[in-house]
Amino acid sequence: MSFWAPFPEIQQDLDRVRSVIDSEISTPGGIVSQGLGDLARRDAKLLRPGFTVLAARIRNGGNPASEGIVHLAAAIEMLHMASLIHDDIVDNAATRRGQEALHVTHGSRLAVLLGDFLFARSFTLVAEHARSSNARVLSPSVARLVSAAIAEVNDQGQLDLSPRRYLHRIVGKTAILFALSFHVGAVESTPTGEDDRVVQTLRRIGYNLGVGFQIVDDLLDISGDPAKTGKPRGTDLRSGIITLPLIVALQQDPKNELSGMVREIRRGRGHVDRLLEQVTRRLEQSGALSATAAVAERYTHRANRELMRLPLGRDREILGSVAVRLLQRSA
Ligand code: IPE
Ligand code: MG
Ligand code: MG
Repeated sequence: MSFWAPFPEIQQDLDRVRSVIDSEISTPGGIVSQGLGDLARRDAKLLRPGFTVLAARIRNGGNPASEGIVHLAAAIEMLHMASLIHDDIVDNAATRRGQEALHVTHGSRLAVLLGDFLFARSFTLVAEHARSSNARVLSPSVARLVSAAIAEVNDQGQLDLSPRRYLHRIVGKTAILFALSFHVGAVESTPTGEDDRVVQTLRRIGYNLGVGFQIVDDLLDISGDPAKTGKPRGTDLRSGIITLPLIVALQQDPKNELSGMVREIRRGRGHVDRLLEQVTRRLEQSGALSATAAVAERYTHRANRELMRLPLGRDREILGSVAVRLLQRSA
């Protein structure tokens, strides 16, 4: 079931977003439409465009999103899709959304270019449909997203990563775009484009949901069910990406057993699968997984507290249940 299915009004707006994406990636007869169409048809959560639509509705009194909003929501999802295509190349991940990643089906050379194509199309949509003030906030956020990906590569295998640096990274790669998805929906639905208290609150909600979401994503990489997440387990560890559960556990590793196992996995020597299982068990038993889940909960709680400042209504209710579903998700 799609993530937004319980909220038919959002789903209806998102169906329009989907058809914009379809037409943006369809180039006559070409490999572009084939490769990207393949990805676009997979079951995606459409979280970011959902946030844009939801923020617009909170602003416009609960009406369907305007055509401009629908196009901007599509632009944000396309930006995200592009970053996933490139992310799977960088992480050497073979599966995405339950099927082979694009670089597996089409080769890395083509996949890089398909990602570039999506970025370009996304910018075009923003140029056409956003106020210039919004275009100005969207572009630097792309640089921030890419910087976070670069930081992740640079930090690879560094076992003494501080929680603070981890947080900075996930803010860049996830929370910023979550916050902007809300921001754009709200501001573009305000006749004067005013950045008032409601807009600021929505942005903060996006930020907190984004941090919580990425922490849960990092947990699912360790203990999720690949049949549900649609991506393999242990991708982060295999490529030496150190996330919060491990940072927590490494703080209580006096005999350096855990760090030894993580280094072995990174070297790719020996029984990587067996080592991965051992690390997972250790993270479970040491309480690192539940401590990490508690941090995600804290961010969700912050988002829920911010929510109380929004005008009462159906869309605020939807946002509240979305926050809970994001925290409890297994996919
Ligand atoms: C990077 O995050 C994806 C973006 C948010 C751009 P991850 O590397 O954790 O993504 P998954 O786990 O492969 O989906
Ligand atoms: Mg990654
Ligand atoms: Mg991940």
